[in-house]
Amino acid sequence: ISLLPFNTFGIDKKARFFVQAKTEEDVKAALLKSKELKIPVFVLGGGSNILLTKDIDALVIKIEIQGIQVLKDNEDEILVEVGAGENWHQFVMFCIENNWAGVENLSLIPGTVGASPMQNIGAYGVEIKEVFHHLKAINRQTLEEEIFDWEACKFGYRESVFKNELKDQFIIVRVIFRLRKKPVLHVAYGAIKQTLEEMGISNPGIKNISDAVIQIRQSKLPDPKQIGNAGSFFKNPTIPKEQFEALKAEFPEIPSFPMEEGVKVPAAWLIEKAGWKGKTFGKIGVHKFQPLVLVNYGGADGTEIQDLSRKIQESVQHKFGILLQPEVNFI
Ligand code: EPU
Repeated sequence: ISLLPFNTFGIDKKARFFVQAKTEEDVKAALLKSKELKIPVFVLGGGSNILLTKDIDALVIKIEIQGIQVLKDNEDEILVEVGAGENWHQFVMFCIENNWAGVENLSLIPGTVGASPMQNIGAYGVEIKEVFHHLKAINRQTLEEEIFDWEACKFGYRESVFKNELKDQFIIVRVIFRLRKKPVLHVAYGAIKQTLEEMGISNPGIKNISDAVIQIRQSKLPDPKQIGNAGSFFKNPTIPKEQFEALKAEFPEIPSFPMEEGVKVPAAWLIEKAGWKGKTFGKIGVHKFQPLVLVNYGGADGTEIQDLSRKIQESVQHKFGILLQPEVNFI
């Protein structure tokens, strides 16, 4: 079966076997089947953070577990359990309709709820870890369901335990979020402030913030339905303070964000200054408004995008001495 409809980069690669899991039981049955056939398992959510460079010689399990269930509801907060296969943005919209605050800044992020803790998705000053309560995941070896609380997930910038120590060992089936009835708004991000101002809103609510985020994202990021892409291709690097000072002497206009471990510099800026912004190479390219996003204009092969990403890495490394780390998972 072709995975073309199941990855937002729009790459035409095949899966040896493919199953859509609508329940926890489906997931367990698929895991058993893979043991029986002695073939590996590959878990697919929304396919919005992968680059397929070859056919997948495995049993691909597409997680389609649905359902949104309120576990606890009091004056201040809501505990809500969400199926891993629910579309992330639709869940955000559901929260906003119910006036549950906490995820409004994360509007319009592609992908599924189950994938959200995996890489601690984040945008406009908020990360999933701020609303995450716990999750349920099936152990691929024992087929038992296990619970991971906040600590156990070891969240970091676009990181969790599931990308590191526990890589390929669990399948996330439900995620439980803690949302607020009395919103704590995050409007410090420059682009949000500015957009709210342009909208003439001085006293925003969560719906206004969501609308602003949607407007910003639509103006800068390509819609994967129209142009294949997987959002930011690289992570924003954090470099030691001394290295930053040296760069600043050479490039006084370099943007920066102080962090505990050093200084974060925007990968988008580095890529733009290395001359890649808006460049097109046959069927692929570097997006014209957001150079952190690599795009497939149609019919590209994953390896072409991989090659382009390597060239970008090399040129940024050469110009700034910084090795960009991919944010997208190469398959
Ligand atoms: N910039 C440029 N040139 C550009 C665009 C941006 O130099 O063409 C520089 C500017 O200095 C700007 C800075 O990059 O101030 C930050 O740009 P932006 O606010 O667009 O954010 P980003 O760092 O490029 C990150 C996330 C996005 C997230 C936005 C908004 C990562 C890898 N990416 O991008 O996440 O939506 O912030 O919070 O952290 C994703 O992960 O797929 C993703 C889209």
